[in-house]
Amino acid sequence: MDPLALAPHVAIFPFPAQGHVNSMLKLAQLLSLSNFHITFLVTVDTHERLLKNTDVLSRFGSGFQLQALPHGISMDNVNTRDGISMLYHSLSVIAKPFLKEFIVNSPVTCIIADGILSMADDAAEEINLPIIYFRTISACSFWSYFCIPELIQAGELPLKENAMDFTLTKVKGMEDFLRGRDLPSFCRSRDLTSPDMRILMFETQQTPRARGLILNTFEDLEGPILSQIRTVCPNVYTIGAVHAHLKTRLPKSTSSNSLWQEDESCMSWLDTQPPKSVIYVSFGSIAGLTREELLEFWYGMVNSEQKFLWVMKPDLIIGQERKDEIPAELEQGTKARGYMTDWVPQEKVLAHTAIGGFLTHSGWNSTLESIVEGVPMICWPRFADQQVNSRFVGEVWKMGLEIKDTCDRDIIAKSIRDLMEKRKGEFSQRMEHMASLAKRAVNEGGSSYINLNRLIQDIRSMTPPLKQT
Ligand code: UDX
Repeated sequence: MDPLALAPHVAIFPFPAQGHVNSMLKLAQLLSLSNFHITFLVTVDTHERLLKNTDVLSRFGSGFQLQALPHGISMDNVNTRDGISMLYHSLSVIAKPFLKEFIVNSPVTCIIADGILSMADDAAEEINLPIIYFRTISACSFWSYFCIPELIQAGELPLKENAMDFTLTKVKGMEDFLRGRDLPSFCRSRDLTSPDMRILMFETQQTPRARGLILNTFEDLEGPILSQIRTVCPNVYTIGAVHAHLKTRLPKSTSSNSLWQEDESCMSWLDTQPPKSVIYVSFGSIAGLTREELLEFWYGMVNSEQKFLWVMKPDLIIGQERKDEIPAELEQGTKARGYMTDWVPQEKVLAHTAIGGFLTHSGWNSTLESIVEGVPMICWPRFADQQVNSRFVGEVWKMGLEIKDTCDRDIIAKSIRDLMEKRKGEFSQRMEHMASLAKRAVNEGGSSYINLNRLIQDIRSMTPPLKQT
């Protein structure tokens, strides 16, 4: 009999941004290795980009369906003041009814929804369909979001004037080191009723409604915080790092989930560089820089006299043409020691022997990809979860340096020299250790390996609800 005939059918519903789509598509591929039927629901824009820039359809077997949601949901304005609430509005009026109709009319066993899309739970509850959340951020940032109501109750939020460096007392497990400036960026607002803050607080508080919570992390990295999370969500599946997990279970997989075309030529440039001599620079898929910030980073990099590979997405500079009047010394410094490009195969870049450091915005995928490859980081977080991740990298795990809330060419140049030269030995020892624990977690017998198998078994034991005819 066709193994797919009896296979569970999982509808996967990610938030429509690169970091979310990437890790949830990796999970989809891991599940389809167990012969699950998968329907992966994405916006029209993401659908087009995945078809154009990846081999997503040929990579999966016949049990995989990439399903576009109806038109009208766009990430275009997400960086604007009302961007997030506009996006949620369109998700609620367009995606939610579509999802509801889909699960009513298809033989779906369960939904795996992004942990910030609780509208999926509303749809699932109506027909008694099991739902599991996948929160694509770190355990530490999830937990700090979850504790926001307690911070408000204790009067620690909104943050008091000049209190950014005070240590907070109400995020259990982080009392010794979490400062106001390390909270998710939305907490910086004096107005706790802002739409961003309301949405994220609300969505996070919904998590215990689901049957389980999948996190892209591993026990050796975030064990103490995971124990805190388990007090409110007992069924946590830590299955990360998902990209490394996929490589373990499917060693020949070289596939990417990039929404933009990757420039492979940077790999040939890296091939010509000595081991651990290049700092890789990327601010992820959403964050933008002002022209002033761009110039500080550029001078910092050139003045550090280290080699650099810099991802300069065409829309990286907010409201500016990136090449507008760039000082000649920067052009020359870049020609001598740098390589700039629009978008790279980041996992491959971080795995390259020439890479010795990563100047990052501390997005969670980037952080995990760096940890798995043992690459120390300089953290310059921009928004949301990145502030928390950066604190953990710098202060708790001591895997690099934090330059949060500064943007100064001298600090940047000094940090790069410290990471790549002066404190290289200290960081590489710690990184090697954590990278080996990361690999152990996803190999047979490791914590993430066991948890993924448990997730697969739990989904297999679910029975689809009886549908009314
Ligand atoms: C943001 C958040 O900060 C992140 O923590 C959250 O989970 C999702 O939303 P983003 O800013 O895109 O995501 O950062 P990150 O999570 O690091 O994801 C970026 C992804 O794009 C990574 O998987 C990275 O490998 C990939 N990438 C980045 C490329 O493939 N090529 C590039 O040139 C740059």
